[in-house]
Amino acid sequence: MKKLKIGVAGLGRIGKIHLNNLLQLNNVEVIGVTDPAPEALEYSIDKGVKNTYETFNDLVTVDRLDAVVISTPTHTHANYVETSARLGKHIFCEKPLDLNIQRVKDVLKVVDKSKVKLMIGFNRRFDNEFRKVKDSINNGEIGDPHVVKITSRDPSPPPLDYIKNSGGIFLDMTIHDFDMARFIVDKEIDEIYVKGEALIDEKIKKEGDIDTAVIIMKYVDSSMAVIDNSRKAVYGYDQRIEVFGSKGMIQANNVKVDNSKLYNQNGTISSLPMDFFLERYMEAYKIEIKHFVDSVTKGIPISVSGNDGLKSLQIGLAAKKSLAENRPVKINEIE
Ligand SMILES: NC(=O)c1ccc[n+]([C@@H]2O[C@H](COP(=O)([O-])OP(=O)(O)OC[C@H]3O[C@@H](n4cnc5c(N)ncnc54)[C@H](O)[C@@H]3O)[C@@H](O)[C@H]2O)c1
Repeated sequence: MKKLKIGVAGLGRIGKIHLNNLLQLNNVEVIGVTDPAPEALEYSIDKGVKNTYETFNDLVTVDRLDAVVISTPTHTHANYVETSARLGKHIFCEKPLDLNIQRVKDVLKVVDKSKVKLMIGFNRRFDNEFRKVKDSINNGEIGDPHVVKITSRDPSPPPLDYIKNSGGIFLDMTIHDFDMARFIVDKEIDEIYVKGEALIDEKIKKEGDIDTAVIIMKYVDSSMAVIDNSRKAVYGYDQRIEVFGSKGMIQANNVKVDNSKLYNQNGTISSLPMDFFLERYMEAYKIEIKHFVDSVTKGIPISVSGNDGLKSLQIGLAAKKSLAENRPVKINEIE
């Protein structure tokens, strides 16, 4: 069997997950990795990866390389995607592609011209619980979807340094929910209205960001979506979706650490939701990277395109505008 030869750039929280999942696939050969952190390179050597490269350019120019997985910090993504596309290497890139909409459009033009495949890391699309919701909607089981409700709360805020460069809550966190809102009912968003505050930490406010948000969106067919976000849920990573339609409703509830329940005279006690994204979406990350490999090797269409990355960024920027101007914003105001 011909193996797909892949390089991995960036071995932090998410890069390590991708590397481990790639190493489990028998139709993949991980040619090498790049990361400026010695600890990251040692990690890859321990995992049996033979080559480490000093720079992204050194990795991506390896002749026999077919594809790259980019899990470096966000500000590097656009350049690395562009370089890879020009060299004819297929690309899996973590979200977001960039924080600037024009830059994303320019990169996507280069990708289109190059004919390589580009997949963006919206991992929640591959979560089994959310897939069931989508399949049920597709099978007509809840009729016409009228209201999508997404609850998305992190267990704790990221470090302030992260917030300084992340583009803020809508671009680092809610961007996954914007993608999910489009994906789950297969409809585009027309308008967004946001209320948000820093209720958890004043320092987040000083950095110009918020930590709590309620978001109302209208789809192009006038159906609606609501998202509520918090950067700190004391009981764990709260990830739920409900879709209400003309014939019924479907819910995906939290995945818990275990399913046992203690009953006593005071009531019932069950375990908390899984701790954070690495635990909650462990299976989704496996399915996601396998989908990328299958798309390249078997010619299956990529199910999370560069355009999906662009759309969620556009909604995120519209959310920022809505908060700043305290008014509903049409998505097409962001060009
Ligand atoms: N899809 C998801 O669920 C998800 C989750 C977390 C992060 N992300 C995204 O993944 C990206 C990385 O996030 P993270 O949390 O893993 O960050 P991280 O800080 O844990 O890891 C980043 C790694 O990249 C390395 N690095 C820095 N500059 C580099 C360069 N020029 N070339 C190669 N390596 C370089 C760092 O040394 C570090 O090891 C971000 O864009 C983030 O938005 C996605």
